[in-house]
Amino acid sequence: MNKKDVMLLTGAGQISMAIARRMGYGMKIVIGDKKLENALRISDTMNKAGFDTVVSEMDLSSCESIFAFIAKAQQYGEIAMLVNAAGVSPSQASIETILRVDLYGTAVLLEEVGKVIKPGGVGVTISSQSGHRMPALTPEKDEQLAMVPTEELLSLDMLQPQNIRDTLHAYQMAKRCNVKRVMAESVKWGRRCARINSISPGIIVTPLALDEFNGPRGDFYKNMFAKCPAGRPGTADEVANVAALLMSPQGAFITGADFLVDGGATASYFYGPLKPETKIE
Ligand SMILES: NC(=O)c1ccc[n+]([C@@H]2O[C@H](COP(=O)([O-])OP(=O)(O)OC[C@H]3O[C@@H](n4cnc5c(N)ncnc54)[C@H](O)[C@@H]3O)[C@@H](O)[C@H]2O)c1
Repeated sequence: MNKKDVMLLTGAGQISMAIARRMGYGMKIVIGDKKLENALRISDTMNKAGFDTVVSEMDLSSCESIFAFIAKAQQYGEIAMLVNAAGVSPSQASIETILRVDLYGTAVLLEEVGKVIKPGGVGVTISSQSGHRMPALTPEKDEQLAMVPTEELLSLDMLQPQNIRDTLHAYQMAKRCNVKRVMAESVKWGRRCARINSISPGIIVTPLALDEFNGPRGDFYKNMFAKCPAGRPGTADEVANVAALLMSPQGAFITGADFLVDGGATASYFYGPLKPETKIE
């Protein structure tokens, strides 16, 4: 088999595809998703547009599945890029599933890819603006989210059922953890001359967001983009524009960082018309 540099792409959605189309030319793109049909759909679109992709069924909530996915990808060549956009939203899943997929699975993936990433490699993981509107945690809790061994994460007191209000709170904790984990992992990735960052998008029109618009918090989300400075939801391509900077040589000094791409929704939430009466969201 002709070896190429490999891009690992998890979560075969609009955001990951937009990033892969900017950065994945000339690479072997290994697309992992729990729903194989999603991976096949994106693979087909990309292969017909001149990219070289293969699919693999993978479940981000399972460390065994993550190990197998990485091992399969390595058969094609060295892993030089990671794009992690697999995830479930507050309207799609239970508290337990959100914590397993978005929090634990992402932590495992970042750590395992960080052990094998090619020198000079880069990664980006998709967090969310949602984590930015949750009040600050204590420095001790932040450090736990950043540093405890992955297999102990879900046993942390702050993540036990009595301490998680609802699926939105679980999602916010997961996304806060993503950002903290990226900071801690960037130190390890740096030892391999590799970089890892996260992007926290606002409302981006994708199937996941459409589930939110049609879910119990639909009006809340529609109000959010109507009253943010941009006055509209974003597109996957606008997220990918930022990923392209982070993953290209122009972003060589950027690692361990999180980038909010939300049309100003977070700014409006704190200091504008989206400011809630009581800050519980
Ligand atoms: N769309 C938005 O408005 C928005 C905003 C902020 C953050 N995000 C984040 O962006 C990421 C991608 O979301 P998207 O909007 O492109 O959604 P999407 O629904 O288009 O894609 C998400 C993909 O993840 C896959 N997936 C779900 N659970 C999985 C698991 N356990 N293992 C492997 N794959 C799994 C789904 O099958 C789906 O193909 C998510 O982490 C989401 O939280 C999205």
